[in-house]
Amino acid sequence: MEHYYQCINCSSRYDTSEMIYACPRCEDLLEIRFDYEPSASQIDTKLWRSRSFSVWRYRELIPIESTTSIVTLGEGGTGLHRSQKLADDLGLGRLSIKFEGENPTGSFKDRGMTVGVSKAVEMQAKIVACASTGNTSASLSAYAARAGLRCIVLVPEGKVALGKLSQTIAHGATILEIEGNFDEALRSVIELTKRNPSIALLNSINSFRLEGQKTLAFEVCDQLDFTSPDILIVPVGNAGNISAIWKGFDELRRLQVIEKAPRMIGIQAEGAAPIASAYKGKSIHIQPVERPETIATAIRIGAPASWKKALRAVNDSGGLMETVSDKEILQAQKDLARREGLFVEPASASSIAGLRKLLEREAVEGDEEVVCVATGHGLKDPEVAARIGEAPVKTICDIKSIERTLGLR
Ligand code: F0G
Repeated sequence: MEHYYQCINCSSRYDTSEMIYACPRCEDLLEIRFDYEPSASQIDTKLWRSRSFSVWRYRELIPIESTTSIVTLGEGGTGLHRSQKLADDLGLGRLSIKFEGENPTGSFKDRGMTVGVSKAVEMQAKIVACASTGNTSASLSAYAARAGLRCIVLVPEGKVALGKLSQTIAHGATILEIEGNFDEALRSVIELTKRNPSIALLNSINSFRLEGQKTLAFEVCDQLDFTSPDILIVPVGNAGNISAIWKGFDELRRLQVIEKAPRMIGIQAEGAAPIASAYKGKSIHIQPVERPETIATAIRIGAPASWKKALRAVNDSGGLMETVSDKEILQAQKDLARREGLFVEPASASSIAGLRKLLEREAVEGDEEVVCVATGHGLKDPEVAARIGEAPVKTICDIKSIERTLGLR
């Protein structure tokens, strides 16, 4: 379908034959817009269903021109797990977890990278770069390896979970550990790609990445027989994902594939919650958090790049923003692992922690259908995982001692 960049502030339009990451006129965020008539006849859901369940099932709504440049590892197609025990514990009728840990590198970032890296290849880039709290770098380095591109990542020193760093090392990226946090790393990589335009920037201010991430909304509707849940809850860090997911629901609604879209609820960690603070204070601007801190290192971000899009998603959908403490995050991580068999990383558990809080204060009703997004796999952060369970018990390898230790004799 015909598409172009549009500035979310001044509505200027630009051709997508050039890679740009901000509006050349007013420097605000860009998004991809399609030239379609809002009518269901534009989309053939039967054709979608005839394809494999993955990001590319929805290719009519993905702005990649040439199928030969597609770089894929089989991303998307993740489970929507009905979680009745957790729902019962929380006093909720219907709860499902969209488990993005099932993606090839273990997080939702792969949805964005298959599209973003494909576009970079289409534009004949040879080098790709990003700043990251870990998952973006793990994902980009894998897709860069697959496409034969050089990959440069900037990460905050000592604040990237072990699993994510291991992946990035394994895939052969050049890793720069910077003294500073994610926000500083992002500023530097933006400057690096400005000064060296041949390096493609793959953070979520790259609109093509969000075009991949919006397929999470398509999949949730597809899994619910082309209906939408009442509420979708997602952890928020740099705020690309909530913006992308809302764009996906909004497009399906405009195309009359679904009748209504869900309320979008974004959850931030208490120590890194500029968007939730702006929402609660009814402000239309965020106040960046200078020293963001949370155990959920994935969302340890004080100056989210896509905050404006996130507030728009929340307000346009009739949703809200909430914060959760590290303690609540760890409890939710444990509940998901013990009650539902889903091992997610701390940031991912914040959506469930947030749901609990919102049910308590009756901002979510017990009869609403809720989907929580669990954004990344628990193996990403093995060190934190050890804190939510008991350490292994040492025993000598003798049947009597084993039985005694187990309390069987
Ligand atoms: N959950 C996980 C597991 C993440 O890795 C991230 C972001 C988020 C949630 C928040 O998504 O930034 O789109 O609002 N991780 C980025 C990274 C920042 O570098 O891996 P967001």
